[in-house]
Amino acid sequence: MSGEQANRDLSVKFAGLTFPNPFILSSAPPTTNGEMIRRAFQAGWGGAVSKTLNPEGVVIRDVTPRLATMRDARGAAFALGNIELTTKRTLGEWVRDFDALKEEFPDRIIIASLMAETSRQAWQDITRRVQGHVDAVELNLSCPHGMPEKGMGMAVGQDPAITEAVVGWVKEVATVPVLVKLTANVTDLAPIVEAAERAGADAFVAINTVSAIMGVDLDTLTPLPAVKGRGTFCGYSGPGIKPIGLRCVAQIAQVTARPISAVGGIETWQDAVEYMAVGASTVQLCTAVMFRGYRIVRRLRSGLSSYLQDKGFAQVEDIVGKALGALTAHEELDFDHRVVYRIDEERCTDCGICITSCRDAGYSAIDRRPDRPQIDPQRCDGCSLCQQVCPVEGCVTPVEETRAATA
Ligand SMILES: Cc1cc2nc3c(=O)[nH]c(=O)nc-3n(C[C@H](O)[C@H](O)[C@H](O)COP(=O)(O)O)c2cc1C
Repeated sequence: MSGEQANRDLSVKFAGLTFPNPFILSSAPPTTNGEMIRRAFQAGWGGAVSKTLNPEGVVIRDVTPRLATMRDARGAAFALGNIELTTKRTLGEWVRDFDALKEEFPDRIIIASLMAETSRQAWQDITRRVQGHVDAVELNLSCPHGMPEKGMGMAVGQDPAITEAVVGWVKEVATVPVLVKLTANVTDLAPIVEAAERAGADAFVAINTVSAIMGVDLDTLTPLPAVKGRGTFCGYSGPGIKPIGLRCVAQIAQVTARPISAVGGIETWQDAVEYMAVGASTVQLCTAVMFRGYRIVRRLRSGLSSYLQDKGFAQVEDIVGKALGALTAHEELDFDHRVVYRIDEERCTDCGICITSCRDAGYSAIDRRPDRPQIDPQRCDGCSLCQQVCPVEGCVTPVEETRAATA
């Protein structure tokens, strides 16, 4: 990669809006108020979705604490679970912030995330109240904790009929694009997407956090995150949900031509490109910013710019959906394509993990012969477990079965 040198135009069109770059802060703690969004824009973010707003007069009380993490072997947090609710600020405070941000950063895209009880009046009131001050609204039909019990958030986005009603009410009065933020906590996204599209959704956002329990405290046997000895189902975010997000974005792209903003486990520009390849034209981040700050946008932008240049793409749109043509049903895969694996003796460190995995969970195809592991092509079934567990890149590689058999 040519690093910081590349200077591709990263601007992208999305639902009639032009983002200066595709990197957006999702609705979450990094967009708690206007001053924080201001600092994010100074750092270079292309847009921001406000923390979810509530109708006039709704008072939100959060519990403390409301986060739990999973940590890697060195103790660094990499996954997050939260039981935070929507904004504690009033619509009036938000509208003032939106106006100030728009004046200072006219080229950035500001989106108000909205949530209301399932009534035409409530959804239309909150839409009318904010839409003159933002570029778009995002309907939070996907929060998995706290709000579904009150018939909001994920309780709406899990039901095609209620989704269609809510999106339809907002579209009756909306003068700005209406984005619909979906939940992965459903068996099939297609009917939800179709319902929202019938009601006039301008774009889709996926995914919100995944319903989870982050762990159990082994001393107190309390589910985590815990509040004074009791826990509840939380929303799981971070790199662990990226595979789920990629699947959801691809599924949405398969049923609609409306633009998609991807969110879920994005940390690097490579994550962003993957989401674009399965159909997203903008990407949103939360947990990576909570762990490392607004400044990560610099690397996201320079990495994406270099990638576009190195691959000969003129613009972000050229990547969008590029992997979808290669996405097929399992029965359509080539069952005649047979590979077996071989180990590069020069690279092998003789750690033995491939021997153990193949013996206890594969086809017992790896022998220590004479002092390095060697794969017997007659016994190898080509599952790739040895390659997956090998810690040395390029040490275990596939070869066509016929060549291996005669080698
Ligand atoms: C502490 C916390 C609070 C959040 N609050 C909201 C919210 O108010 N509205 C919303 O739509 N999503 C909310 N989210 C979800 C994020 O916007 C995002 O969809 C999710 O975290 C997945 O992205 P990530 O893996 O980059 O964090 C919240 C996430 C976290 C971690």
